[in-house]
Amino acid sequence: MVIESNRKVNVAIIGFGSVGRALARVLALKRRDIYNRYGINISIVAIVDSKGMAIKPEGFDEYELLKLSELPRSSVNMFKPYAVDGVDLEKLYNTVTPDIHVELTPSDYSTGKPGVDNVFFAISRGAHLVLANKAPLVLKFRELIDKAKSRGLEVRFRATVLGGTPFIDTLMSMKSYEIDRIEGIINATTNFILTEMHDKLIEFSEALKIAQALGIAEANPSLDIDGIDAAAKLVIISNIVGTPIKLEDVYRESLSRITLRDIVDAIKQGFVIKYIATLNIRERSASVRIARVPRNDIFAQINGTLNGLRIKTNVAELIFIGKGGGGIETAHSVLDDIISIAQKVVGSR
Ligand SMILES: NC(=O)c1ccc[n+]([C@@H]2O[C@H](COP(=O)([O-])OP(=O)(O)OC[C@H]3O[C@@H](n4cnc5c(N)ncnc54)[C@H](OP(=O)(O)O)[C@@H]3O)[C@@H](O)[C@H]2O)c1
Repeated sequence: MVIESNRKVNVAIIGFGSVGRALARVLALKRRDIYNRYGINISIVAIVDSKGMAIKPEGFDEYELLKLSELPRSSVNMFKPYAVDGVDLEKLYNTVTPDIHVELTPSDYSTGKPGVDNVFFAISRGAHLVLANKAPLVLKFRELIDKAKSRGLEVRFRATVLGGTPFIDTLMSMKSYEIDRIEGIINATTNFILTEMHDKLIEFSEALKIAQALGIAEANPSLDIDGIDAAAKLVIISNIVGTPIKLEDVYRESLSRITLRDIVDAIKQGFVIKYIATLNIRERSASVRIARVPRNDIFAQINGTLNGLRIKTNVAELIFIGKGGGGIETAHSVLDDIISIAQKVVGSR
């Protein structure tokens, strides 16, 4: 198959953990199909982890993408002859010219590093942005969007909230609605823990251990069980709807307070306990709380790693249910964002 060179869109993947690897695998399988359907050739020219980089100006082929996705963690710098020791974005951008910078590094809300520095650097070098890392949006939303806009660059981040559904795109398209309130279950780990507690009648600590053994919860689960991840997502949503709230202003209750006794009491009285994130737009307030939900409420039916969000507007109520994350699901959201931007890049040539 002949691929026209003016259809080539260079992509750099920064962060090569579960989402980055899933993205490489999905691309290895779908790249030709994407070219046939949309006329764009997505070319991965650089992949970066915490220890180093693999750079190939002409783009990695399908076989190389699969090989890269199977490397042990932190060993992209072993991928000869394309390996480079250490992370140096300046060097990367001087060697290849990414059209799209994909930021898949960990979300760090205390320092913002490395995501915040990386995305502003990418903008300074004229690259469009796709983010799954939430920290740059949580800490610098307006600055990031304004800076990108001033340079005619796109910023997309569908993977950051309800990673496995097109929730963000839909919310952004709701321009004529007056949105009163957005609420729901937006953290897969804590919803899984609560589901285990209800189904198996076990204590929180035991349910957490199961989640950790299955790789659903991190070894340090604080971001999830203390509501920080859900609060970060509320901050992103609040910025999209034009009522920005700061992370420190989101009221949070830690799920670690919940006991089996609370669960049993709730069940006896016809309720289910859920960890509910709420953005009240009129009151400009946001919270992540342990809530008793009536057994027949839609949120009571959302179990395991599923997420659900209800948007209450002056016209209608909309409900989204889908996977909150997961490597493959999130990689598809990231890839959708890449394709949308790539179509514009190719269209503008
Ligand atoms: N997993 C999901 O379902 C999901 C869903 C939605 C959003 N997200 C967000 O997406 C991002 C990626 O998630 P993930 O699950 O793929 O995380 P992950 O498995 O922890 O992978 C993070 C990657 O970033 C690399 N990294 C760390 N510090 C770096 C640095 N200074 N420079 C370059 N690379 C660095 C890590 O390198 P090493 O491999 O060397 O450690 C690793 O490859 C996170 O921000 C997460 O919050 C994830």
